[in-house]
This record gives sequence, C-alpha cells and structure tokens, in this order.
Amino acid sequence: MCRNFVILLFFHICGCKELFDFRDKNKGSNCDVVFLSDSVKNGTITSPLYPSPYPARTICRYEFQGRGKERVQTIFQEFNLYHPRDDNRECDNQDTLIAFVQIEGRMEKIDTFCGSTLPRPVMSNGPRLKLEFHAVYGSRYSRGFKATFSFIQNFGIKVGVQLPDYPCAFVFNSNETRSGHFYSPNYPGFYPRDTECYYFFHGNQGEKIHLHFNYFDVEGVFPCEAKSASDYVEFSNFVSQDRKYERHCGQLGEFDIESDRRFFRVTFKSNDRLDGTGFNATYQFLDKVESFTTRSELTNETAVLKDIDGFITILFFLMIKLIR
Ligand SMILES: *[C@@H]1O[C@H](CO)[C@@H](O)[C@H](O)[C@H]1NC(C)=O
Ligand SMILES: *[C@@H]1O[C@H](CO)[C@@H](O)[C@H](O)[C@H]1NC(C)=O
Ligand SMILES: *[C@@H]1O[C@H](CO)[C@@H](O)[C@H](O)[C@H]1NC(C)=O
Ligand SMILES: *[C@@H]1O[C@H](CO)[C@@H](O)[C@H](O)[C@H]1NC(C)=O
Repeated sequence: MCRNFVILLFFHICGCKELFDFRDKNKGSNCDVVFLSDSVKNGTITSPLYPSPYPARTICRYEFQGRGKERVQTIFQEFNLYHPRDDNRECDNQDTLIAFVQIEGRMEKIDTFCGSTLPRPVMSNGPRLKLEFHAVYGSRYSRGFKATFSFIQNFGIKVGVQLPDYPCAFVFNSNETRSGHFYSPNYPGFYPRDTECYYFFHGNQGEKIHLHFNYFDVEGVFPCEAKSASDYVEFSNFVSQDRKYERHCGQLGEFDIESDRRFFRVTFKSNDRLDGTGFNATYQFLDKVESFTTRSELTNETAVLKDIDGFITILFFLMIKLIR
C-alpha cells in the first residue's frame, strides 16, 4: 500500500510536464522525493517519465532516510542516460546520476554514473543516502533509469545467520551448511565506508574450515595497516587476533586459506576513504583427515618416510653386496 502510494505520489509529481519548466535552474525541479524508512522499507525509483525519455534540464533528488542500524541499498535494473560518446567513462558535464552519503556530518559524493553501463549496487554507510539525477541534455533514445531501493540491516549479505548483538556479523555452522559462499557488504558493488563485518565459522569436533577467495579487491597496500589508510581482510583461529595470518588487501588473484581447528573468524574492515568492490569466497568444512597438516597425518607421513628410509638403506646394502 505504502509503496504504491509513494510511487504514485512520485509519478504524480514527476509526471506533470509543466513542473519541469522551472525557471531557476539551480533550484531543482519538483521531482525531488524523500523516502522515510518509517513509511516504506523498499520500492522503486525511476527517472522522470520512465520508461519514456526523460526531459532535458532536469534535476531530481532522491533522498533516503533510515533509522538506527539501517542502511540504504539501491540495485539498478536499467540505466540508459544520454552520452555523446560510446566510451562513457567521462561523466563531466554529461547526464549523470550522483550518489552521496553522509561522512562526518557532511553529504559526500561517493559515485557518479553516466552513459548506459548498468551501475553496481550502491549502499550507504549509515542511514542516509542521496541520489541526484542531473539531466542536462536528454534525447529521444534515452530511457533514463530504474532502480529498486531498500532499507536493510544485513549489509546486503544474504548468507549465514546474522548475529543481532553485533553491527555486522554472520555465523556459518557446519551442522547447518557444510559448504557455501560469503562475500563483502554490498558485493558486487563498492563496500560502504567505516564498516566492520565478522564472519564466524563453527565446525563440528574434528573439523576445520577451508576458504577459497575467487574475487578480491579491497583498497589498501600491504601490510594493510591503518597508517597506510588500508581497508583489509583479517583471519583468525580465535575470537581475538591471530598473528599466524597476515592481513590481506589490494587486488589479489584467487587464494586459499585454512583454519587450524574447528573455529575460524574472517574480519572485513573498511575506513572512511576510498572503496573497493570487496570479495567473494567459498567456504567448506573439512574433516581433519582431508587435510595435509593435522597431527595424525604427519605421524603417518613420518612413518611412511621412515619405511622408505629403511627400504633405501636395505637397497644400498644390497647394491654394495652386489658390486662386491
Ligand atoms: C519489500 O518489503 C516487503 C515488506 O517489508 C517484503 O515483503 C518484500 O519482499 C520486499 N520486496 C523486495 C523486492 O525486497
Ligand atoms: C548447530 O550448532 C550450533 C552451535 O553448536 C547450535 O547452536 C545449533 O543449534 C546447531 N544447529 C542445528 C540445526 O543442529
Ligand atoms: C560468488 O561466488 C559464488 C561461488 O563461486 C557464486 O555462486 C556467486 O554467484 C558469486 N557471487 C557473485 C555476486 O558474483
Ligand atoms: C594414521 O595412523 C593411524 C594409526 O597408525 C591410523 O589409525 C589412521 O587411520 C592413519 N591416518 C591416515 C590418514 O592414514
């Protein structure tokens, strides 16, 4: 009901042609819209007149105001803004959609989209997000954009079980799922700033956890510390830190990582500067016998090695006897 009402309201405001004939260009048009999470948890936003071409000289502001731990995520379904060239990397002075989030009290630009490449999902770093649509030109071939938005508390992470007592923590229990995948907040979009997420893996007795990262883009430079303003991913066999594993950051190829025992913790941490697109990884709970580093196997390997040693010694003596 509410959602329909807001959409209707939106079309009512934006659908009236004369409203776009605003005189003061800087003042923006009447297609501005505000969504409060108290009245709507999700919905759709579009450019004016969508799916018909949007009018030129239009500015629309879409503001989202959540509460508490809520964040705003927008996922684009269509994106088709007028752009004079095919390579649409240059957004300066073009028709654009600009995303702002609140950082230290100010609304800061985090992303600018133009052309017809479908943007990655956008997520706020707090309860507020603002999108600004600047249509300078328009054209009869440019349909504009359509996106869904939602106020969420799970950071777009739809795997594992979220722990309510943490800002962002997810649990993976071996007795529920023995393998699957997990990813950074808002993946495959840029992860939000100032965000820390935990991924806890709980195996059964005798199990360990094997992770395979198939995508990794976390802004930072090794050794991924605060003084280099690095975002990072950290691994630990404990709830606390574990010096056994080095922090990971930067753009990395595929890699694997394994726990020592039945518990493993992965921490993702971003700061208030520069973003990456995060990571996507698979996890698997393994029985210890499947691994190469457990004690019993080492013993067995040693035993085998001893046997081989003995065999070679015998062979050696036999050869010496033969030569003689
Ligand atoms: C939107 O929210 C409603 C109620 O909160 C929910 O039932 C529905 O599945 C949501 N739709 C989407 C597309 O997320
Ligand atoms: C799985 O293990 C956890 C922790 O030991 C326990 O809290 C949970 O109830 C178990 N779930 C099932 C389905 O057995
Ligand atoms: C992440 O990786 C898993 C496993 O390889 C894959 O199924 C999933 O589609 C990937 N997620 C995205 C958003 O690419
Ligand atoms: C290792 O050796 C022990 C006893 O010698 C045996 O019980 C166990 O199955 C062996 N493990 C493997 C992986 O062969």
